[in-house]
Amino acid sequence: MTDTRIAFVHGRRVWDSRGRPTLEADVLLEGGAVGRGMAPAGASTGSGEALDLRDGGTAFGGYDVTRAVANVNGAITRALVGLDAADQAAVDARLIEADGTANKSRLGANALTAVSMAVAHAAAGAAGEPLYRHLGGPDAATMPLPQIQIFGGGAHAGRRVDIQDFLVVCPAAASFAQALDWTAEVYRAAGTLMAEAGTSAGVADEGGWWPSFATNEQALETLVRAIERAGLKPGAQVAIALDIAASEFGRGGHYTLGLESRALDSDGMIRMLAGWVDAYPIVSIEDPLAEDDAAGFAAFTAELGHRIQIVGDDFLVSDAARVRAAAAQGAANTVLLKPNQRGTLSETRAAWNAAKDAGFAAIVSARSGETEDTTIVHLAVGWGVGQLKVGSFARGERMAKWNEALRIEEVLGARARFAGGAALRRGTAG
Ligand code: PGA
Ligand code: ZN
Repeated sequence: MTDTRIAFVHGRRVWDSRGRPTLEADVLLEGGAVGRGMAPAGASTGSGEALDLRDGGTAFGGYDVTRAVANVNGAITRALVGLDAADQAAVDARLIEADGTANKSRLGANALTAVSMAVAHAAAGAAGEPLYRHLGGPDAATMPLPQIQIFGGGAHAGRRVDIQDFLVVCPAAASFAQALDWTAEVYRAAGTLMAEAGTSAGVADEGGWWPSFATNEQALETLVRAIERAGLKPGAQVAIALDIAASEFGRGGHYTLGLESRALDSDGMIRMLAGWVDAYPIVSIEDPLAEDDAAGFAAFTAELGHRIQIVGDDFLVSDAARVRAAAAQGAANTVLLKPNQRGTLSETRAAWNAAKDAGFAAIVSARSGETEDTTIVHLAVGWGVGQLKVGSFARGERMAKWNEALRIEEVLGARARFAGGAALRRGTAG
């Protein structure tokens, strides 16, 4: 074992998948091991997320990160040099202490996230192990069920449709690799159908087709036809997952579907979504109601939590305390895990631990603004989370994650166990 004390930390500005500035951190250990992490960025962010520190002003639309980079090269470096990178909890505790705010607004969650991930990679490198194995030990062999976007909408596609993500999962696939094979065929079939109907206008932020449908439901119908056209069975082989991202169009119990010029209250949203669950092979719905609508979440979960997975993203913001509170209220049954919603890997892992204690499932997730960083794939496998959502089946920053998972599955060989449909939180009371 080489010396795992942190010798040096370096931050620099690089560019994300939307062409916006983002922050990359390198960590060097005394024994020579190095690690790197890159911060992702959301567009439909929850108000309870840790702060993504931007410069403001006019350059690059206010998205520059020179202050966050300076924090890495100043306060964060001073705080971490000499700490043992192999003790992630202690490193993350020091990061939290150095920031000193509840929402990471002093040093920036982007700065902390990149550094926290870089430290984990450096420690894994020093141990001579891939990160998933370093995190999970020799038993870490569960390949997650991928949730893959076919159409993008909401804030990721000019609000062309209200619903943000129309995704597929392949519960009956035999392996992660086969789930990708099936999804590739569905993605292609959807593109062909849309080209024929004149309903596609390129790709959205996460690589899904940018749709020009007349209604939200037309997207669901087209998705079912794409699964069939790919030669697969809707429901049994390929099922639908939705991210409504309702905080983008709802507040105070009032929801406005722009595409259909419809105004709905919480109950109206629940009725509409319950109708979709009856009519289409939907197995998972994320943020069906807005982040401020806990009562709506509880009502929705009481009605549908025994049939489908109900995921809190903006609603739970990867926060252990919010997961516990939601479980106590019977609101949602699954948490989305995005490390930059909190700022450190340890806090994200705490949310996963809280989920397990509460009987919730979890999904490790990318952001709409991404990079070539593949850390989240290792978190999903290393922590045994069981589900992974990184956007669509196009664009390099998305494919980098899917391809990394393929490599891990291949290295695991006969030990790999595909989580499949069993990973979905279904069939139990919400
Ligand atoms: P975001 O979208 O990264 O823009 O927040 C992803 C999601 O809502 O799941
Ligand atoms: Zn979401």
